Amino acid sequence: MQPKVSVRGLPLYKPGKSLEEVKREFGLEDVIKLASNENPFGCSPKVWEALEGIKGEFQYYPEGAAPELREKLAEHLEVDPRRLIFGNGSDEIVQIIARTYLDRGDESVMADLTFPRYETVTRIEGGVPVVVPLKEGVHDLEGMLAAITDKTRLVWVCNPNNPTGTIVSHEALSDFLDRVPPHVLVVVDEAYHEYVTDSAYPDTISLLDYNPQIIILRTFSKIYGLAALRIGYGIAHPDVVAELERVREPFNVNRLAQKAAIAAVEDETFVFYCRTQNRIGISQMTEKFDEWGLSYFPAHGNFILVDTGHPADEVDEYLLRHGVIVRSGLHLGFPTHIRVTVGKKEQNERFLEVLHAYLHKKGK
Ligand SMILES: Cc1ncc(COP(=O)(O)O)c(C=O)c1O
Repeated sequence: MQPKVSVRGLPLYKPGKSLEEVKREFGLEDVIKLASNENPFGCSPKVWEALEGIKGEFQYYPEGAAPELREKLAEHLEVDPRRLIFGNGSDEIVQIIARTYLDRGDESVMADLTFPRYETVTRIEGGVPVVVPLKEGVHDLEGMLAAITDKTRLVWVCNPNNPTGTIVSHEALSDFLDRVPPHVLVVVDEAYHEYVTDSAYPDTISLLDYNPQIIILRTFSKIYGLAALRIGYGIAHPDVVAELERVREPFNVNRLAQKAAIAAVEDETFVFYCRTQNRIGISQMTEKFDEWGLSYFPAHGNFILVDTGHPADEVDEYLLRHGVIVRSGLHLGFPTHIRVTVGKKEQNERFLEVLHAYLHKKGK
């Protein structure tokens, strides 16, 4: 029995190695994971408190529309609650968008080196991914505009971009949106939004007021530290949300996730702490990269894509053997780069020590 044509030969998502796997494979006890852009500080302690009372509720389905979280988040973001849609991770919203808007043969425009799910969900729907190369690691919005045809339905802008960590500015995004034709929806994936401190970073919600063709994606998996619970959200015009809601599964966001997200939004001190520590961690790493003459992309999220000058898989393997899991750039389109998540101070120190030992061994 063959699967449908669009699924045949689709590459499988290759997740990084887990802590447990590396411990087993290399016989190590002490392993750190800086591979999946998770929050090294965990989540707010308020989340733990909020989840304590939920044990007696497991037999009940969650409320599909997440009304309590919707209200809380709408207030926090200062948006109309009808502008929100929740997903089992923002991954699920990426899928819902493709399912809602792509017919067979429709085109969706994306950067060549960006979050891989945009391409996968496009292909699953029988759509055609149209890729526009990054320019020095940054989305080429002019190029993306030029790639739009009558068949284009979606454009994906990942901001900060994963894996490069670069951003497009408010001005550039706003100018781009003004020129995108009305038959196209622009998805602005802001999974790392809360980490960004650069004042040029777009206030995309304010752009939504004038431009009904934007869907903003955010997540609780990154700075809020709730990746295990799987919850993300989209912000869009109520008419767009209403279409997406037709495709959303009825109970897609579980009770634990909804409760946890409410508590997470309330704890702004935790978010502030993580953002500050992240900036310190970026400086800690980039100072060393500068000292060693390694180039890297400007990091606006909680990860850095750095060029080691050596085969990425070899560097990755060396780091693994020494108990540090990062992401090889090979499968991300950068054969000599590694993508490292910014960890706690001592984790960053350990990573830098091992990387330095590798470079030293190579005579650099
Ligand atoms: C750019 C980007 N978008 C979306 C996601 C998916 O996040 P989640 O499904 O955990 O919300 C990720 C995860 O790494 C990401 O990097």
